[in-house]
Amino acid sequence: MLVLGIESSCDETGVALVQWQDQAMPTLLSHALYSQIDMHQAFGGVVPELASRDHIRRVLPLTQEVLAESGRSLADVDVVAYTRGPGLAGALLVGAGVACALGAALDKPVLGVHHLEGHLLSPFLSADPPEFPFVALLVSGGHTQLMRVDGVGRYQLLGETIDDAAGEAFDKSAKLMGLGYPGGPALAKMAEQGDAKAYALPRPLLKSGNLDFSFAGLKTAVLVQAQRMVAADLAHSLGQQPSQVQPTGSSTAGFDALPRAQQCDLAASTQAAIVEVLVKKSMLALKHTGLQRLVVAGGVGANRALREQLNAACAKRAVRVHYPELHLCTDNGAMIAMAAAMRLQSGLQQAGKTYAFDVKPRWPLDSL
Ligand code: KG4
Ligand code: ZN
Repeated sequence: MLVLGIESSCDETGVALVQWQDQAMPTLLSHALYSQIDMHQAFGGVVPELASRDHIRRVLPLTQEVLAESGRSLADVDVVAYTRGPGLAGALLVGAGVACALGAALDKPVLGVHHLEGHLLSPFLSADPPEFPFVALLVSGGHTQLMRVDGVGRYQLLGETIDDAAGEAFDKSAKLMGLGYPGGPALAKMAEQGDAKAYALPRPLLKSGNLDFSFAGLKTAVLVQAQRMVAADLAHSLGQQPSQVQPTGSSTAGFDALPRAQQCDLAASTQAAIVEVLVKKSMLALKHTGLQRLVVAGGVGANRALREQLNAACAKRAVRVHYPELHLCTDNGAMIAMAAAMRLQSGLQQAGKTYAFDVKPRWPLDSL
């Protein structure tokens, strides 16, 4: 069986081909990705209307690219899968519309896939795939969740963020530091040269005893700290006491003129606060469930400090930890084709020839 997968939920257009036979693990034949980050950067975040229009431009050329790369033609495709939600409505409609049009033209069935199920199952595309059951830490730009996963489609929510997602905490803190959009990777890069203990930042809900997260307060703490640093620097250059110079408003103007070491220290301290909460809550989820396997997925799963600290914490507890390949951590078509393949293979779902489509901008994973 050959599945064509199309991802268009946010600011990346991804297309991929995944193949499987009988009960063997599906394999990735080819995938292609176009990131709109450069286009949105000028606006400091994703502009939904621009995202939708760009998906329209990219999706068919990317489809031709993956077919050419794998030496297949559209006629070889058995199922067309697309991201049905969650995500930006207009962006989702592009992928859904194209997938259903292709399905109708080829007389092949289509299947709408849950974006987070794609992330969750993406480690099955790696050289060291996990086995069920496991605890999954889903950390993306829009979601931070801990799930108990007993099989394909068997997802139980253990805890989630009550406000911002971990990726948002990275991005919003990075924006305060003048690092552009999405700032997560840039902040992580600066953090590598900084001292993670330089500034004491809050670890929200760390000791709550439950598996929920809260990251909204962290960005305020980062803002206050950045303003203090700018004020202290100004006072120093004026020969005054830091208390004589008051930060104003919500601006962090002047942060980028601070000594680079100070900027890196704040980046490292911010990253450490986010990572510590993610690691401790993941360990608590393993303890609560009694499971010995952890799967990490979503864009923030690419973070090196997170991987190092999860690896160390898991090694201490003899827990196996699995990640997607680095290039498949952020949004891509491969995970959508893979999730469709695994749902079809498990018999959980069938692809249909009904080409009327809808999208689900909000769609809880445990409602699948
Ligand atoms: O999963 P994803 O590609 O998109 C969503 O479904 O949201 O995740 C994107 C998020 C962004 O917030 C981005 O800043 C973050 O993942 N991210 C990182 C890193 N790479 C991507 N955050 C921290 N460190 C990284 N290396
Ligand atoms: Zn995603």
